[in-house]
Amino acid sequence: FSGRYDRALQTEWKMGKINDDLLDPEIVQNPSPYYKVLREEHPCYWNERWRGWVLSRYEDVYGALHSTDMLADRITPFFRHRLSAEEQRRFALTYEVLHSFVVFLDPPRHTHLRRIFSRAFTPKAVSTMRGVVEGYVQEFFANWDGRDVVDLNKDFAYPFPANVIASIIGAPREDVHRFHGWADGLTNLLLAGVGEDQRMDRAQDALVEFKAYLKGLYDERLKQPRDDMMSWLMEVEQNDPTLTEDDVLHSCILLLNAGHETTQDLICNTLTTLLELPDQMDLLRENPQHMKTGIEEGLRFNGPLKGTMRIAGKDMEIAGSRVREGDRLLLLMGAANRDPAKFENPEQFDVTRNPNPHLSFSHGLHFCLGAPLARMEMEIAFNELLRRFPKMHLLSEVKWDPRILGRSIEAPINIALQ
Ligand code: HEM
Repeated sequence: FSGRYDRALQTEWKMGKINDDLLDPEIVQNPSPYYKVLREEHPCYWNERWRGWVLSRYEDVYGALHSTDMLADRITPFFRHRLSAEEQRRFALTYEVLHSFVVFLDPPRHTHLRRIFSRAFTPKAVSTMRGVVEGYVQEFFANWDGRDVVDLNKDFAYPFPANVIASIIGAPREDVHRFHGWADGLTNLLLAGVGEDQRMDRAQDALVEFKAYLKGLYDERLKQPRDDMMSWLMEVEQNDPTLTEDDVLHSCILLLNAGHETTQDLICNTLTTLLELPDQMDLLRENPQHMKTGIEEGLRFNGPLKGTMRIAGKDMEIAGSRVREGDRLLLLMGAANRDPAKFENPEQFDVTRNPNPHLSFSHGLHFCLGAPLARMEMEIAFNELLRRFPKMHLLSEVKWDPRILGRSIEAPINIALQ
């Protein structure tokens, strides 16, 4: 990435001084005031520390997500320009795996893979998973009965979506705890922003183990196919000369990862927001018909991903700034979701907000494929949670993890049930 000096000067001159530390503890804890300044005064600014442009207005973030001139493959430039030749060799497996994730692909390969996955995640296909989701919700909350205090993360938000996605893929239940460390290693690389070297090492170690584990499941299914998504993907692979065994394994890594960490954060972020706003909690508990809009509001207000990235595919102008081909951009969905130009009273959490065109599942070509599943998991879990535990309250203040792209709460999240 260029990070050219003239660009930094251009930003300073035009915009005045700005805090470019996206991991500043104050910003991490409460990004809203910072987002407001960005939207009003620096809608597209060059962040020298992050070495890329930061977009914050709804109109610009939405436009970038829909633009065919914005590339989703940020993996190739990262490896080519940020790593030494020795590192590129050392982390070759990480590149190979990440580079085949549908979320980092551009057309025409993206179009091809997305078409395949879409078949598995239509609302109709997802509705067949309802029984599995309901079963897990009942089981986890039965374990809460009679307890005074639970850790929301450990006792539900992590294992619930992890178990759901594992049973969809076909991974045995007793292995689910192993995904945690692997997924963490990967997420830390993809969503955080500190300690680059260590992050690469951790991600690579995680991927080596994750892939070897899935290869074991793959080989079992070669002998005996089952009624699960991995067997289905293997069948697609047999009939599609452009798909390889690696594509199947890497896609399962992506789904197992995307399928639980984000939903885990949405559960924690939404429940803690509701617990901090008793009026909204009561409104939702007494009017479960607002559950759908309540969940969308949870996504808008504290969505699990504050931002995503793109690479400029050509020179262009955005909000008065000259973006050059190859520059990277941080699209702040979190800031766009609080833009008063799009949302009335954006700083107010309102479970009845409708319409709610938030960007937390992205938009355009890469719109989250798992959105129908995540929405169903949330609805079933929250209906039951609010009904069963009317006296829930938080035992400590919410502290947010320092991540540039992700928005997640530091564990443990202790909740009293009585
Ligand atoms: C893509 C968010 C749950 C699978 C995305 C993107 C976002 C997102 C923002 C696009 C990133 C970009 O444009 O660069 C979320 C949130 C979730 C969630 C907030 C939960 C609350 C899930 C689940 C699954 C899933 C449960 C699968 C089981 C995917 C896949 C893509 C994706 C496969 C890539 C789509 C593409 O590139 O065409 N998600 N996700 N997600 N998500 Fe999700």
